[in-house]
Amino acid sequence: MFVTPLIAAPMAGGTTTPELALAAHGAGAFAFAAGGYKTAEQLATHLAPLRAAGHDFGVNLFVPRAEPLSATASAALAMYRSELRATAERYGADVPELLLTEDDPRVQDSWEEKLELLLADPVPLVSFTFGLAPAPLVTKLHKAGSQVVASVTSVAEALAAVETGVDALMVQHANAGGHTAAFLPAPAQPPASLSELILAVRSAVNLPLIGAGGIASSADLKAVLAAGAVAGAIGTALIRTDESGARPVHKDALGDPSYTQTAMTRAFTGKAARALVNDFVREHSATAPRAYPEVHFLTVPLRAAAATAHDPRALNLWAGSGWRQAREGSASHVIVDFLKGL
Ligand SMILES: Cc1cc2nc3c(=O)[nH]c(=O)nc-3n(C[C@H](O)[C@H](O)[C@H](O)COP(=O)(O)O)c2cc1C
Repeated sequence: MFVTPLIAAPMAGGTTTPELALAAHGAGAFAFAAGGYKTAEQLATHLAPLRAAGHDFGVNLFVPRAEPLSATASAALAMYRSELRATAERYGADVPELLLTEDDPRVQDSWEEKLELLLADPVPLVSFTFGLAPAPLVTKLHKAGSQVVASVTSVAEALAAVETGVDALMVQHANAGGHTAAFLPAPAQPPASLSELILAVRSAVNLPLIGAGGIASSADLKAVLAAGAVAGAIGTALIRTDESGARPVHKDALGDPSYTQTAMTRAFTGKAARALVNDFVREHSATAPRAYPEVHFLTVPLRAAAATAHDPRALNLWAGSGWRQAREGSASHVIVDFLKGL
């Protein structure tokens, strides 16, 4: 399925640009486009240069939540909105009133429209995160000629994914930057490393596995391959590159030695994600409700204002555990360095 052991992971929210995907491919990686947060029209535009290049690539989509927000989460969301006002005021920003219905395109992330696009004009591979694509959809994508990959974070999720008929699994460890792909409760004793997670999943399922989460060097990639993965995926290692669309303030923060740790936090979006620990993470992680994507849309204006002010204190500085090794320069250099060390 993959002719290369290195994958440029999908990074929605602006980081994955067509230029980044093309540069990664050109240097020998398999590249993903990021479909999350985009409308179908925006996705079509994002994919046009990749289709034109005529080589294999993947498209990643967010699976919308299965259940509406609970009454408890809605109440917690209202309280969180009040809490965020003081932080927003610092940036002259607003915290919008947010009561989203289930059919709101923001809750659905334009799921039906994007699938319609991918079924009408198929791409080589489609991957999903935040949940599983139902088996009939996997069948439809297969019939259209696309391979299908599910993102999982545990053995239980891997077993559930196998039932849907996917071709491979993106096995993500909690060291990964950005949102967790998890859709089931975490196991009581999660594996300490990506290699351990790969070994555990490999002993339970018989599908090609791609390891993701904390791969920061060739040596890390080698370890994941030695554990039985067919490839390793890197995200954080590409954020600072020239072709990445991450905000300059985010790129700078990853190289700033005053940041000393990352943490999993729901503070920015309502879904657990790994970020550099800044003031916002410290002030709001304890109270942020499980309310994705509502919290994401609640904090959008505040984060935009902080970015305009080039102020990293209220920004979601997504970062995996290997962030200190993320380098500036061209994405091709980064990819070539990972590959030549194998
Ligand atoms: C900025 C950022 C955005 C991300 N967006 C997505 C996404 O849209 N879809 C997805 O499946 N994973 C997303 N991820 C997770 C990556 O695909 C990948 O699993 C992760 O970056 C691997 O860990 P690493 O960051 O330690 O390399 C994102 C990660 C980052 C850092």
